[in-house]
Amino acid sequence: MEVRDHLVERWAEHRLCIDASDNIGAAHADVVVIATPWDAATSTALQVADQLKGKLVISMCNALARVGPEFQPLVPPRGSVAANIQAAVPKSRVAAAFHHVPAKELGDLNEPVESDVLVCSDFRSAVDATAEIVAALPALRPLDAGQLSNAAPIEAFAAVLLQLNIRYKTRAAVKFTGI
Ligand SMILES: NC(=O)c1ccc[n+]([C@@H]2O[C@H](COP(=O)([O-])OP(=O)(O)OC[C@H]3O[C@@H](n4cnc5c(N)ncnc54)[C@H](OP(=O)(O)O)[C@@H]3O)[C@@H](O)[C@H]2O)c1
Repeated sequence: MEVRDHLVERWAEHRLCIDASDNIGAAHADVVVIATPWDAATSTALQVADQLKGKLVISMCNALARVGPEFQPLVPPRGSVAANIQAAVPKSRVAAAFHHVPAKELGDLNEPVESDVLVCSDFRSAVDATAEIVAALPALRPLDAGQLSNAAPIEAFAAVLLQLNIRYKTRAAVKFTGI
């Protein structure tokens, strides 16, 4: 509730319609985003599997480990966090998206992050609905990255991005040319 109040107050001019809730309450939303540490994502989805039935579930989780000065991509069961969630909640439509958008900057409503957002899913309707959400956010461009099998390289690439952030002391995002 404190976080919700802080956001509503910080962005008062935007009149945000947001509520605070536990995972069950959050899973009652029409679209559910899973943004936990990677090793908690599948168990979190499983806890609310009934509420997620028939819904679009967006995973933005990256399986990474920080080892000394470097970030290393991990290989979760089924190759990606998103594929593992899809297997755990087969009655939901899982899409993978937002893996490379820096969260703090994304939360700054006054300074939109300019970035492409790779979206993949085994369900056409999930790609389309996720792309619509991305396109509604200023300066983000959704790109259809195919089926959920591509979530593995998309998630792993986040390790490269974090490494670049450290090397160049920045918060890098991804833009593709030629599309
Ligand atoms: N940070 C970024 O810039 C960014 C960008 C793109 C993608 N991602 C991905 O998004 C995910 C979240 O990243 P983050 O930086 O927001 O991480 P985070 O702050 O460590 O975790 C986000 C939330 O996950 C919940 N959580 C933590 N441990 C949990 C557990 N064991 N079981 C269930 N829920 C748990 C916490 O909620 P409560 O506080 O309510 O406990 C926490 O607020 C990660 O997989 C990351 O790779 C992050």
